[in-house]
Amino acid sequence: MFPPVVYTIVILMIGFLNWLYSWRNPRCNGVLPPGSMGWPLLGESLSFFAPNTSFGIPPFVKDRMQRYGAVFKTSLVGRPVIVSTDADLNYLVFQQEGKLFQSWYPDTFTEIFGRQNVGSLHGFMYKYLKNMVLKLFGPESLKKMLLEVEQAANASLTNWSMEGVVDVKEATAKMIFDLTAKKLISYDAETSSENLRESFVAFIQGLISFPLDIPGTAYHKCLKGRKQAMRVLKRLLQERRERPRKVEVDFFDYVLEELQREDTVLTEGIALDLMFVLLFASFETTSLSLTLATKLLYEHPLVLKQMREEHDAIIRQRGNADTGLTWTDYKSMKFTFQVINETVRLANIVPGIFRKTLRETKFKGYTIPAGWAVMVCPPAVHLDPTKYKDPLHFNPWRWEGVDTTGASKNFMAFGGGMRFCVGTDFTKVQMAVFLHCLVTKYKWNPIKGGNILRTPGLQFPNGFHIQISERE
Ligand code: HEM
Ligand SMILES: *[C@@H]1O[C@H](CO)[C@@H](O)[C@H](O)[C@H]1NC(C)=O
Ligand SMILES: *[C@@H]1O[C@H](CO)[C@@H](O)[C@H](O)[C@H]1NC(C)=O
Ligand SMILES: *[C@@H]1O[C@H](CO)[C@@H](O)[C@H](O)[C@H]1NC(C)=O
Ligand SMILES: *[C@@H]1O[C@H](CO)[C@@H](O)[C@H](O)[C@H]1NC(C)=O
Repeated sequence: MFPPVVYTIVILMIGFLNWLYSWRNPRCNGVLPPGSMGWPLLGESLSFFAPNTSFGIPPFVKDRMQRYGAVFKTSLVGRPVIVSTDADLNYLVFQQEGKLFQSWYPDTFTEIFGRQNVGSLHGFMYKYLKNMVLKLFGPESLKKMLLEVEQAANASLTNWSMEGVVDVKEATAKMIFDLTAKKLISYDAETSSENLRESFVAFIQGLISFPLDIPGTAYHKCLKGRKQAMRVLKRLLQERRERPRKVEVDFFDYVLEELQREDTVLTEGIALDLMFVLLFASFETTSLSLTLATKLLYEHPLVLKQMREEHDAIIRQRGNADTGLTWTDYKSMKFTFQVINETVRLANIVPGIFRKTLRETKFKGYTIPAGWAVMVCPPAVHLDPTKYKDPLHFNPWRWEGVDTTGASKNFMAFGGGMRFCVGTDFTKVQMAVFLHCLVTKYKWNPIKGGNILRTPGLQFPNGFHIQISERE
């Protein structure tokens, strides 16, 4: 007879193999899309997060598109995921928000961003918060903000031209953070005793990292950065409560007013989480786009030339360079908007948009089980040669006379459907106005850095250092 320990081992082995089998072959009332679930728990996370230096479709996605087709299954950070590079499925996912699909981000993200952030809220609360955000970043507010954005860009550029060499990534991040924080919470980076942005920098460095919370890990620093930032935000809100202001209205004023109403659904916790997400979403994304635009414009002199013609003409028409841009000027920057579209198309700052499947969904013969995550993959659309000829080439002219109804299916840098980015217009104002100041007054030369890394989010690991001087 065998000793009992052998029985135990055999039973454990069978249990493990059984579990492994069901891991590899998840249950489904139909045909799952093809693909591999990878290792137990880890899934295929390691290859998904593997750093790469290319501008192309992430190798993880590209390899699997070739092997399995436009829709495939995988497992990321402990979750079964369907990856979609199919325009029709993407469209379905965006149109069925709240019905078949619902916004969802991996648990580590929820931990990091706070449980109550915009991304994880649904229904009534969500609409309500969105309206609050739109009040601050909608067209009416942006019109009033235009001059301030220009002054910030102008002042920053003046400083950089005197400094010799400047890292555009770092410098635009500072410029945009300071302006956004000023608009949202009247935070003044110059006079404040605490450096709010520093906590965000620590936060971002660990954002996409293995979720191991022990001292020394990037994830640990990230959580610490968040805690620190939340502490500062909380204190600022407290200060405002004690000393309300009458003049200019910012986000804190809305929040305090709301919190005082009896029927309000808003809590201080939700308001602070939202504040955090907005500050994060605004400065990191826009500064990456501007850094890439600066690099691409330098590398494509013909594009730069046409940009200069457009912006010099705006100043010439006005007669005086120093009276500032009007909303009409801004709206007339036709070629600039093409440059911006082309830049964010190539930047692919958001490599995946996540949703949770609420009900079992059939699609082109496949079944997506309820509870599975779906990841819409914008880079696969933006770099599809049947949609964008010669897709890796920076060619703003391709947007000329583009049919905007068809374009939206092929362009999802800012998402789509109900959850479309609320900061789109704000980003465009910041980018267009900054580029206006840059190309009309300055010329620049790269000194070092400028290389990109995708993990799979876009990064400039060595920044982008340029020397900037006045145009003659
Ligand atoms: C180049 C710049 C930006 C890019 C590429 C970008 C991209 C995106 C994308 C793809 C989404 C959709 C996420 C989803 O569907 O799950 C989104 C949502 C969002 N963005 Fe942006 N964004 C940018 C700038 C901004 C700015 C400046 C702000 C802040 C004012 C902002 C605030 C938000 C918010 C609050 C949401 C959530 C909206 C919702 O869930 O309804 N974004 N963004
Ligand atoms: C990036 O992906 C390509 C294609 O899969 C691969 O050949 C290369 O080794 C990867 N690594 C880096 C660091 O670019
Ligand atoms: C420009 O530099 C001056 C002096 O160093 C500083 O006081 C000012 O805040 C800077 N402005 C910007 C926008 O960086
Ligand atoms: C830009 O800055 C320069 C010098 O700092 C100043 O003379 C000019 O009036 C500013 N222009 C605008 C539009 O703010
Ligand atoms: C940029 O892309 C958006 C979305 O597809 C489109 O509506 C807009 O017309 C484009 N802008 C230009 C100048 O082509």
